[in-house]
Order: sequence, then structure tokens, then C-alpha cells
Amino acid sequence: MIKKLIKQKLTFLDLFCGCGGFSEGLEQAGLKCLAGVDHNAHAIETFKQNHSTDTIALVRDMTSFQPEELQSLVGTHQVDLIVGGPPCQGFSTARQFSGSNSGQRLVEDPRRELYKYFLKFVDHFRPKVFVMENVLGIKKIQNGIYFTAIQNEARKVGYRVIPFEVKTWEFGVPQKRIRQLFIGTLIEFPIFDSSSLITKTHSLTPKEDGLAPIVTLGEAIEDLPALEAGDERIEQGYDLRLRKKYLGKYSGSFLSDVLNVDKAEKLTWHCSRPHNDRDLRDFARLREGETCSRALARGVEMEFPYDRSSFKDRYTRQDRSSLCSTIVAHLKSDGLMFIHPTQVRSLTPREAARVQTFPDTFRFAGSRSHVFTQIGNAVPPLVGRKIGQGIIKYSEKEKVQTQQVKLSDAEKRKIVLELEGFVNEYMVKPIEFADDECFKKTWKMIHLLLPHLHPESVIDNGTEISSVPSRNISFCLEPYYIRSGWPVELAPIAQEAYRRMKSGCLSNVDYFNA
Ligand SMILES: C[S@@+](CC[C@H](N)C(=O)[O-])C[C@H]1O[C@@H](n2cnc3c(N)ncnc32)[C@H](O)[C@@H]1O
Repeated sequence: MIKKLIKQKLTFLDLFCGCGGFSEGLEQAGLKCLAGVDHNAHAIETFKQNHSTDTIALVRDMTSFQPEELQSLVGTHQVDLIVGGPPCQGFSTARQFSGSNSGQRLVEDPRRELYKYFLKFVDHFRPKVFVMENVLGIKKIQNGIYFTAIQNEARKVGYRVIPFEVKTWEFGVPQKRIRQLFIGTLIEFPIFDSSSLITKTHSLTPKEDGLAPIVTLGEAIEDLPALEAGDERIEQGYDLRLRKKYLGKYSGSFLSDVLNVDKAEKLTWHCSRPHNDRDLRDFARLREGETCSRALARGVEMEFPYDRSSFKDRYTRQDRSSLCSTIVAHLKSDGLMFIHPTQVRSLTPREAARVQTFPDTFRFAGSRSHVFTQIGNAVPPLVGRKIGQGIIKYSEKEKVQTQQVKLSDAEKRKIVLELEGFVNEYMVKPIEFADDECFKKTWKMIHLLLPHLHPESVIDNGTEISSVPSRNISFCLEPYYIRSGWPVELAPIAQEAYRRMKSGCLSNVDYFNA
């Protein structure tokens, strides 16, 4: 029975899986996780408690774990998807700004190389799709060297890669979190058009965009019982009177569709850490939504002993009516940047989990500190769900599409000649003047000749260019941008195609050759 079920569902592996936030969302969308791997035993215990017994949960160091071993454990070589979050600490922009990310030490940080182990598994299993998650900082670090390397090396093993920036609040997550995804698809399969497959549902300007308004922090936590700092009960009942009040204020769909509260028997991990008296007095001085620097600016006396010019938001009271600050693993240390909007304490693990859109039925293992780390590291399950739905749509589409046309050498030469003519012509006049039909034909030829390139990756070319062109290769094809793979001569055409697609002159179907 289980075998049959697994057959019908798309299957995936979760590498560097943490507690399984990403997996949780993908399973909500209807995919089936075959295995999760992480070297952190507490995270794997959580992962295990939230998956059925036929999902393998492994404590392994990915730098010494071999794909062949995973294949023999899961009993198959066939998986539809591999997802993973090779650690992001080495790429964090927050550390860059504080100065500790720019020196020799972090340049040599071995965690930055972990994506290679991820790609090794991709190369072995060859799923139709892979999704690698990282922090936004990866784009800036060392002039984008890692951002380039990930895309370039994925292309070398036969995947077309699209970087996709996820502003989580646009998918209903009550948080300012932004993450960088790399979505790779086998080049012989159709383009993954993220803008139509992973659709936004919420907006900061809902009236203009016709989408739902963002989900606020209040909507995520206002039904939870009030606590004093230091109330460390791991388990308690819900306050149904408060829930009723909440339902008078909000629709309740976040509580039922995302947090699944009706299915949770007990409220777990809504426990508050102790704070010293000085901090508690400072918490009480802050208004809702206020940072310590703003409180100081309006003349409030605060007691904290840290340097006031460099720790502007060291103490921050969150605001019920807006998005919560990005939930980070660092929450385990003190919680001072996550003071409850109306109570004199920092957020509890359950509140942080709700902001990350973990359902209340999700169980966490380990100490409070382990749990905060697992929550802060996770992909919000709601984002995982939207990505999973996009991948299901993509797979359905892929089934009905024909495979890429294979060109003979003579056909390739003919296309190159035509492209050279087009490039020469538009060296002297602006490419925007090319008429629609001629432009469409040229763009189609580029698709045929370079099926391994993703059209949108031209927006992120970077600056690094491949070395001197080889003799027999047309100037149309080399040199090329190392990051995106786009030939330098053809990049303006791809940029023009992007502009025409955005302005509606080129349909999505023509743009993506979908
Ligand atoms: C960003 S978190 C992944 C979060 C996960 N995608 C989720 O949604 O919950 C990165 C994970 O990589 C794990 N990790 C770091 N180095 C590792 C290694 N060498 N081998 C295996 N796991 C590792 C960490 O323990 C951490 O759980």
C-alpha cells in the first residue's frame, strides 16, 4: 500500500535537512520525502518525529557521506526532486556589515564549499528538479563568486539554473525574511518558469496588486496565552476565550489552514525564557514596534550597558500590525531583538515557529536552545508548500511536452550565421528597433542553439567573462559570462527579450519557449 502511494507521489530527498521545515511544506503540497540527512542529531530527531516511519532520517556529515550509500538505503535511484540548504552562516550579510565577514577567516570558511556536496548528490541521482536554498548574502559576498560558482557548476552537470529570490511575506509568511533559491532543471526538460509556477498570494500594497494583504505578526500569535518571563512550561492548554477574541479580529484562516490548531491537542513550546531585571525594565520602556535607538531619541532613559551608537536595534519590540523581523537561529542567545509586542518578555519558541509558519502539530526535539536553532534555520513550511505546488505543476506540464530538438552540426552552423548577421546589424542601431517578428525568430533560434541557458539568468550575468575565445567558435558564442553562461554578444538580445516579455510584447510562451 505504502509502495503504491509512494509511486503516485513525486518523491524527494532533503539534504542538510535541519528539522525539516522545507520537507514539511513539500509534504503539505503532496510530495513524499524518502530521506532527510543532517549532521545535527537534535534536528534529525525532530525531523523523525514529524515524518512517517517509511522516511529515512540520517545523522551524517555530508562531506563524507556518499550518494551510493543513500541510494542503497532508500532502495532506489529514482527521485523526482532534491532539496537542501547547505549552511548559510558563511554567506550572511549581517556578519558582513558587522565587519566580521570580510577578513581572511571567513573567506576560507569551509561551509561555503558545502554546495559542492549537494551538487554531487544531484549529479548522482539526476532528479528532474533540484532546489538549493541560501541566504541573500550569497549574492554579494566576494563580488558574487559563490553565486556564480553554484550556477556554473550546476550547468556543468547538466542543469539549467534559475536564481529565485523569495520574499516570504509575498507567500503569506508574517515575516521580513528573504531567501535566495537556486532552482535547477535537467536541460532536456522544459524551462522552470518560476513567475507562473510559484505564484505570489500576498502584498504590502494589496490594492494595487490585487492580492491579499500581508499576514501580520498579530494574526500569527494573538490567540496564544499571555506569559510572564521565565514561565518555562513546555506544554499547556489553549486559551479558548482568547481564541474567540482573535476570531472576532481576524478571519481565522491562518490559524486553521497554516497553523492547523484544530488538530493540535496541546500547546507545546510556548514557554518563556527568564530575563534579568534590568532587561525587563528596558523592555517595559519600549513602545510597540520601537527599537532602543528610537526610544532613546524620544528621550527615554534606558539602562542597558552596550554601545548605543552601534547597537541601534539591539532591543526591539515587535509590532502586531506588521511583519515580524526575520527569525534567526541567534534567537537562542538572548531574544532581545524579539520582544513581544505587548508583553514584557521575548518571543517563545512556539511564537517563533508560528512566524515561520510551522503548524502547531509540529513537534520539536532537544533543549530550548536547539529548538530555536532549528526554527531559525528553517525554510518556512508555507514557502516549501508553494514551491512543492509549483514543482507538481511543472511535472504535469513536463509530461505532455516533447523533448528538446537535437540539432545537427550543419543546422547549428546555419543558426550561428543568422545570429551573427543579427548581432552585426544591431551593433549600429538600437536593438529595441528590431521588429516583433524578426526579434521573435531570432529569440527562437537562440533557444534552439543554447537550450542549457535559462532566459532570466541573463539579469544576473555578473562581471566575470570566460577567457579568450577558441579559434573555431563564433564570436556569438564565446566569450560568455561565467555566472549565467550567456555569450557576451547575445546577452543584449536576451536582455531585450526580458524587457519585451515584461512589457507584454513577447508572450511568456515565446519568452520561455514553453
Ligand atoms: C539552513 S539549515 C537547513 C534547514 C532546512 N532546510 C529546513 O528547512 O529546516 C542547514 C543545515 O545544515 C546542517 N549541516 C551543516 N553542515 C553539515 C554537514 N557537514 N553535514 C550535514 N549537515 C550539515 C546544519 O546542521 C543545519 O541543520
